[in-house]
Amino acid sequence: MTTDITFVIFGATGHLARTKLLPALAKVVAAEDISCHAVIGVGSRQRTIEEFESLVEASLDKAAIAEADAERFMGGSFMYQAVSDDSSFRELAQGVNTLESNAGLSGNRILYLAVPPSKLDDTVEGISTCGVDAGAGWSRLVVEKPFGTDLATARTSNAMIHRTFAEEQVYRIDHFLGKETVRNLLVFRFANSLFEQTWNRRHIESVEITVAEDTGLAGRAAYYDESGAVRDMLQNHLTQIMTLIAMEPPVKMDAASIHTEKVKVLDAVRKLNLDDAVLAQYTEIGSDNEEDVSYLDEPGVPHDSTTPTFAAVALHVDNWRWQGVPFYLRTGKRMAARVSEVTVRYLRPPVCSFHHDSECPGHQNVLKLRLQPDEGFSLLFDVKQPGPNITIGQIPLTVAYGGLLGDAPGAYETLIGEVIKGDQTLFVRSDEVEKSWEVFQPLLDHTNIDTYTAGTDGPEGAERLIMTHPGVWSDISR
Ligand code: BG6
Repeated sequence: MTTDITFVIFGATGHLARTKLLPALAKVVAAEDISCHAVIGVGSRQRTIEEFESLVEASLDKAAIAEADAERFMGGSFMYQAVSDDSSFRELAQGVNTLESNAGLSGNRILYLAVPPSKLDDTVEGISTCGVDAGAGWSRLVVEKPFGTDLATARTSNAMIHRTFAEEQVYRIDHFLGKETVRNLLVFRFANSLFEQTWNRRHIESVEITVAEDTGLAGRAAYYDESGAVRDMLQNHLTQIMTLIAMEPPVKMDAASIHTEKVKVLDAVRKLNLDDAVLAQYTEIGSDNEEDVSYLDEPGVPHDSTTPTFAAVALHVDNWRWQGVPFYLRTGKRMAARVSEVTVRYLRPPVCSFHHDSECPGHQNVLKLRLQPDEGFSLLFDVKQPGPNITIGQIPLTVAYGGLLGDAPGAYETLIGEVIKGDQTLFVRSDEVEKSWEVFQPLLDHTNIDTYTAGTDGPEGAERLIMTHPGVWSDISR
């Protein structure tokens, strides 16, 4: 069905809007059946409409958006409004009404909050006071992650939002949920019966989820130093992957059923013991490259910052399926490589039929779901190495998914498309976001921050988390 949309973007000139959101909107407008659109930029600084338009153009240019798509996007109606108080919010609401009626738009509004958690409540309050949420058509609120900075702020923000918006109008973003490989996790589990039979404590020894990045702050010190690895990655991206791996089959593949199963997993997570956590900050690598500085020497980072850039935890899910199977979650900046993967380690055979005593307990089957890069999965098998003796080796059975991805849409395009459709499946429900803060709340005030050398697999302390099991964290640098 052809539709027309008014995008109202709060934080429209910020890093996220420039690098991800505006290019994705341009692609969505080109790909979806959108007959006509308006883009309202909202920020705290005064800017002319020409300044805003050239900022949008520059962001499309930098993202290498096809010329025809950029032209189509820039052909919509544009407006910019600085907001600071009630009267400027009122100007915003009036401006949007006037622009919609001049452009013949039906008033379907997407209010996109690309603002840091510290500005969330004031922005929602401003929206609600001026009534910019009440257009002639439908209105949907999109909120960027992290949603809140801890359990208390997430609860307050949810309550504040629910004064004006029904939960069905709210789309809390976790852009990992829009990634093709993350969406594939449910298909992998529930469209194939092969693995689901063994997806439990009777067959699996441990699950490891690693999201490692080799990059640093990318010019976002102000945001990152307030967030750190727990708020920026662990509480959201890694937790979302974990719930998709651990959840029960949903009754239906719809938003409500999937969210409910994910919440049940978080409900079953045992209170985090600080002995099961390692936080750390990177130090310099010792190379001649001027950019290889320690976290504390990164531009914009206070010299006494204790913000962790690495976090690793062992979570225990106390339910019938997962009792006794640790979930190891690890993430960090400036690590050896960019790798996101889930490693499922199966229990070893009960008897060491082929190993000499000294080598027992030998290998185990390992399933790796690779989210990025080299998307795909591999399953490690023990095989007999050719020769007169029975010597065991391991070989992988590998399925490359990356080749199928081709021109698949990026995460933000997918998510914006779902907001336009009105499908909340790939978003985070209010109770889900609160439960995930509850899980990591004990870590937020943890002051024991280790160090690790930039460009490595993280601090040695992280090894301690796996002492109880013979395996180690997967090697990132391989
Ligand atoms: C963002 C974090 O949500 O995800 C960043 O704020 C991180 O710090 C990024 O680098 C990783 O996402 P992607 O899509 O680049 O893997």
